[in-house]
Amino acid sequence: ASYETILVETRGRVGLITLNRPQALNALNDAIFRDLAQALDAFAADDGIGAVVLTGSAKAFAAGADIKEMASKDFIAAYTGNLIENWTCISRFRKPIVAAVAGYALGGGCEIAMMCDFIIAADTAKFGQPEIKLGTIPGSGGTQRLTKLIGRSKAMDMVLTGRMMDAAEAERSGLVSRVVPADQLLDETLKAAETIAGYSLPITMLAKEAVHRADETSLAEGVLFERRLFHATFGTEDRREGMAAFTEKRPPAFKHR
Ligand code: HXC
Repeated sequence: ASYETILVETRGRVGLITLNRPQALNALNDAIFRDLAQALDAFAADDGIGAVVLTGSAKAFAAGADIKEMASKDFIAAYTGNLIENWTCISRFRKPIVAAVAGYALGGGCEIAMMCDFIIAADTAKFGQPEIKLGTIPGSGGTQRLTKLIGRSKAMDMVLTGRMMDAAEAERSGLVSRVVPADQLLDETLKAAETIAGYSLPITMLAKEAVHRADETSLAEGVLFERRLFHATFGTEDRREGMAAFTEKRPPAFKHR
């Protein structure tokens, strides 16, 4: 497939998607989500892909939803057109997906990074939810995922002031899992994704599903859900192989990678 607004590559068992609208700092428009949905569907269907990395440029992961595309819409257009619904192609993606963020991750850019399973940031990364400055509010999880990740007090600060957070604060707050020097961002993120893609795919998918469930349920329900999925792993050859390999002091050869 050929794409207008993203670059798509495979590196071994890892799919790499690079947002590529440099003239607009990767502002997220309809075309980007048409391309992203198609690329993610292809990676979902490809047995050779065990994890995906989503990245942008050195200057911007993504500077938000495309303000020029949204500017003239009224309520009826936003509502009947279900504005932003197409963004859920990322949160609905079931294989592990890691965001590699350098530069600006603002508004919708921060929101799509948070839709990924975790974020690795360059020391140049800047996160923010500046929608308030435009007379609107976050529309794709910025008030919800950010609050779950960094807590209400800091989320309120970000959403109400519209200020930016640097990489160090983002790591301290739990928004990102690690910060690396900018020139190592892609390598480090690909390495993490390769590690994940080396495990059993159905098991990494179950693990991801279990962690995401924590956002949706009480502790008791979540722990029960987790235990049932844990039980389910006992129905797989890869669980048997993983434990046998440990006992036999050899690396596991997972079948369902
Ligand atoms: C459309 C954008 C854009 C955006 C940047 N550009 N961000 N176009 N939508 N979100 C365009 C600029 O218009 C400009 O194009 C080019 O990219 C380069 O940007 P500059 O502003 O010249 O760069 P710089 O001076 O370095 O400033 C970088 C910046 C600034 C601080 C990131 O661009 C900025 O504040 N952008 C908007 C950030 C924002 O408000 N994001 C939230 C969007 S709302 P031209 O053609 O003029 O050269 C949102 C809602 C989500 O995300 C809710 C629904 C999911």
